[in-house]
Amino acid sequence: MTERLRETTLTDAYAVFGTPIGHSKSPRIHAAFAASAAQDMSYGAIEPPLGGFAEAVRAFRNRGAKGANVTAPFKLDAFACADVLSERARAAGAVNALKFEDGRILAENFDGIGLVRDVEVNLDVWLEGKRVLLLGAGGAARGAAPAILARHPGVLVIANRHPDKAAELAAAFAPLGVIEACGYTDLAGRPPFDAVLNSTSASWTGERPPAPSSVFARGGLAYELVYGKGLTPFLAQARDVGAGVLADGVGMLVEQAAEAFAWWRGVRPDTKPVIADLTIPLE
Ligand code: ATR
Repeated sequence: MTERLRETTLTDAYAVFGTPIGHSKSPRIHAAFAASAAQDMSYGAIEPPLGGFAEAVRAFRNRGAKGANVTAPFKLDAFACADVLSERARAAGAVNALKFEDGRILAENFDGIGLVRDVEVNLDVWLEGKRVLLLGAGGAARGAAPAILARHPGVLVIANRHPDKAAELAAAFAPLGVIEACGYTDLAGRPPFDAVLNSTSASWTGERPPAPSSVFARGGLAYELVYGKGLTPFLAQARDVGAGVLADGVGMLVEQAAEAFAWWRGVRPDTKPVIADLTIPLE
């Protein structure tokens, strides 16, 4: 009886898994969501050793936890240890959220939907019929592309330093919409794009992808998927040639968290105050 009572009063536990995890904003985001949505839950951060992800997740679940977020470098390990993969997780080939339910590990990927929600709902740039350019063809692009195509752009072009990787993505996602692949030099002759999204990791090292300035439409969107790096060389290039909306990935980060929260708790939290709290001015 005592044990039963104790069980029913336990706070539901969640955590983000990543290595390193010290700088993750997820605990702060989910604490804010839990407070505003009046949810009794805890949300921690767990740093498994490389190669130790599956074991760490199972141990967490066996302690009665309800779910988890997953960040670098474990999104593929999370994909591998899932019992049930959502269509989105399958398309992205990676997993960023887990739910532990009826003894099974359910897996989702909310990165793409988080990006698209930020672009459309928060930044008011609607993608239907637009010319969209995605720079990079790594894991971040693989998550973003299917979510962008679901919004029916006129065309989605993926450009990458190694064009064969872009071509691979375009072939994989061709059934989902109008998608093309190219290298950076091939972008020079093309008409400008309404939205240019940088999914490369170039900004982590202060570099920029070598896209010509002609890709940015005047008044268009330039979106940096990386968060908190200020006016990156990519955003500076876009600003200098007259892009109208500049944004980094803070909104994407908060929106993907909100999708996970809604999946776990059945309520969608208000994201605006949390985005405002975490926003680091570009300049
Ligand atoms: P992520 O999971 O963050 O997408 P990734 O899978 O390692 O990381 O992919 C990194 C992406 O950034 C790749 O598209 C890479 O281009 P290549 O595939 O041609 O290597 C791109 N990238 C990294 N540094 C870059 C730079 N300085 N300029 C242009 N592209 C860059």
